[in-house]
Amino acid sequence: MLPYEKRSEVCGSSGEKETTNPFLGKDFISVDQIASRKEIEYLFSVADKMKERIILKKTGDELKESTVAILFYQPSTRTFSSFLAAAQWLGCSRVIDIHGMGVYSSAVKGESLRDTIRTIEATTAADLIVLRHPDDDSSRIAAEVASVPVINGGSGREEHPTQAILDLYSIREELGRIDDLVVTMIGDLRNGRTIKSLAKLLALSGRDVKFNFLSPEALRMPEKIIASLKSRGTEVLEENSDRLESILEETDVLYVTRVQSEWFVKQTTERLKTVLLPEFGEMEEGALIVLAKELAEKEYRKAVEGYVIDSGKLGRAKNNTRVMHPFPRLGEIAYEVDKDPRAAYFRQMRNGLYTRMALLATVLGKV
Ligand code: NCD
Repeated sequence: MLPYEKRSEVCGSSGEKETTNPFLGKDFISVDQIASRKEIEYLFSVADKMKERIILKKTGDELKESTVAILFYQPSTRTFSSFLAAAQWLGCSRVIDIHGMGVYSSAVKGESLRDTIRTIEATTAADLIVLRHPDDDSSRIAAEVASVPVINGGSGREEHPTQAILDLYSIREELGRIDDLVVTMIGDLRNGRTIKSLAKLLALSGRDVKFNFLSPEALRMPEKIIASLKSRGTEVLEENSDRLESILEETDVLYVTRVQSEWFVKQTTERLKTVLLPEFGEMEEGALIVLAKELAEKEYRKAVEGYVIDSGKLGRAKNNTRVMHPFPRLGEIAYEVDKDPRAAYFRQMRNGLYTRMALLATVLGKV
């Protein structure tokens, strides 16, 4: 059995489908498991059909007999609502959608993720589980214990594979190609998971894709991601540069991300613990967090400065540049940019519906 592959009888697959549908019965945990561009093309062709259907406002019945559990331990607007809508547009009879796992589930009492996943499978008879969780290895752990496929709806700071799929689909829709691109990623490249998954996916599926990574020093793209891109022959043109405006003149896709302040507080607290505690002995946890929040706020303000995209900056970009953002935005793109036809972020969100419909249907073998 390939890694990420589940028992095929769970999905009721036929032999014929198995050879053409590379996602059938498999977990989707990381973009690293995509073996070729052909697999992406397959998924996109299904997404195209889903798009046509949504335009005609026609609900399908592919998932009529299916049960889909959507379990989110972290806040979400787009990923959660589009997975939920995707299942419903496919006629899914039983969608168990639990947004507040981190607040209302037995996780609060200390239950392990392993036990929770096995529990949900037992209590709901789910055929597929979509999971969002703050730990990097959460989806992998869930996939290990679940006997049905697990789709990663965002794990920790490392992976957001379904966002990468919708982003790549959006690039194809907006520019008509996924090759020969200069992609500039800007913002929090250290903590953001969407840019890491997208960069890896672009490197493995596009030809002649070049990157610029622009971020404050403290928020640089991790070296291991850069190394894995380079090992695929992908060029990184500029890193950590302050030449944003001239880089914009060469950019086809400007991918903006928010500075993720929630990780700042966590990291600053950890740092304070190692620096302060040996000096001052026991320090009350509450006082430490207050201090960490203050420091994180200062670092945050420093980090956001100079990275706001407004109409003035966009004036330097090409006519067919596209501005993308996984959202939420917290001021990184001025509202005035929304009316610029190059602002693709709301169209990008809609593509999340089509591609997630395609993923649910292909993984469950209902295409
Ligand atoms: C992102 C996420 O959760 O990683 N949002 C999303 O899923 N579209 C980006 C973010 O939170 O900044």
